[in-house]
Amino acid sequence: MSIMDYAIEGYKNVQAKQYIGIFGNPIKHTLSPVIHDTLSKSLGVDERYIPFHITDNLKAAVESAYDEGILGLNITVPYKQEIMPYLVDIDPAAKAIGAVNTLVRTDVGYMGYNTDMPGLAKAIFSEGMELKDSKVVMLGAGGAARAVAYMCLYYGAKRVYIINRTFEKAKSIADDINMEFGKDCIIPLSSRDYKSIPEDRYIFIQCTSVGLHNGDGLPLVDDRGFYQMAECGVDLIYNPAKTPFLQLIEEMGGKAFNGLKMLLYQGIMAYELWNQVEISEELANIVYSELKNTVYSK
Ligand code: ATR
Repeated sequence: MSIMDYAIEGYKNVQAKQYIGIFGNPIKHTLSPVIHDTLSKSLGVDERYIPFHITDNLKAAVESAYDEGILGLNITVPYKQEIMPYLVDIDPAAKAIGAVNTLVRTDVGYMGYNTDMPGLAKAIFSEGMELKDSKVVMLGAGGAARAVAYMCLYYGAKRVYIINRTFEKAKSIADDINMEFGKDCIIPLSSRDYKSIPEDRYIFIQCTSVGLHNGDGLPLVDDRGFYQMAECGVDLIYNPAKTPFLQLIEEMGGKAFNGLKMLLYQGIMAYELWNQVEISEELANIVYSELKNTVYSK
């Protein structure tokens, strides 16, 4: 089977000198082509980004992609862990996070990276926030939260509380990431115990799937007063633009940011790895406008 057989409708006959793309399931609604095709167009590079719908046999799909010269790939749900055995090497940060979202072609196969984590950090820095010596409250302890916890310690956060409905999952992340950095500054909490967090100013990061798509659902901690401690709040969700969590952050006087900039920068960082280029902030802003038009004008 050729790799192009996996391309979704509308992309099967795309012609270009070079191809990059994404593996996922479902994949029809991915916004990544907006990021990468805008970058290639702006830079005058004859390269197109193809969404590949992979329903089974991930190994065969990766082999086809490599044999047919695909320069690089993004990997999304549900394959960020499953892809790992099919790579020649994995960047240490991606290994520690336990998820790969970017494959970069080498002479002997694909190497795996995680650009979600530095992408979020860049998004946070671009909004004028600092992680060094920061105090963070994270809501949620799934796959995305593990990358966020790693990011917090990697960039020098002083203390991180992870609140989750299922305490064991918060504890597992705290144990693993504390050990990775030889620290004990991540503290896991059950959502019933959020009041044990001392009064202070925090960066809040929302990593649960509550509010995804239709904006329904109550924030993990449904107590307005709690959000008074938020200097700012970041939600990994970008659609809807304002989740119930971000609404609360704003109402309680904090600055609120959704996940669209994280999506932007994880894509830009992957593009930089594939094409060995540095994307300027000016071009990043152009891509960001394109993304906003695509997501929010529907
Ligand atoms: P992702 O890869 O996006 O992180 P995930 O690994 O499935 O997705 O994690 C989803 C997160 O959202 C988890 O923290 C989950 O809480 P549990 O660990 O207790 O399952 C959280 N979550 C999902 N739906 C929730 C809800 N209705 N209320 C509270 N937390 C919820």
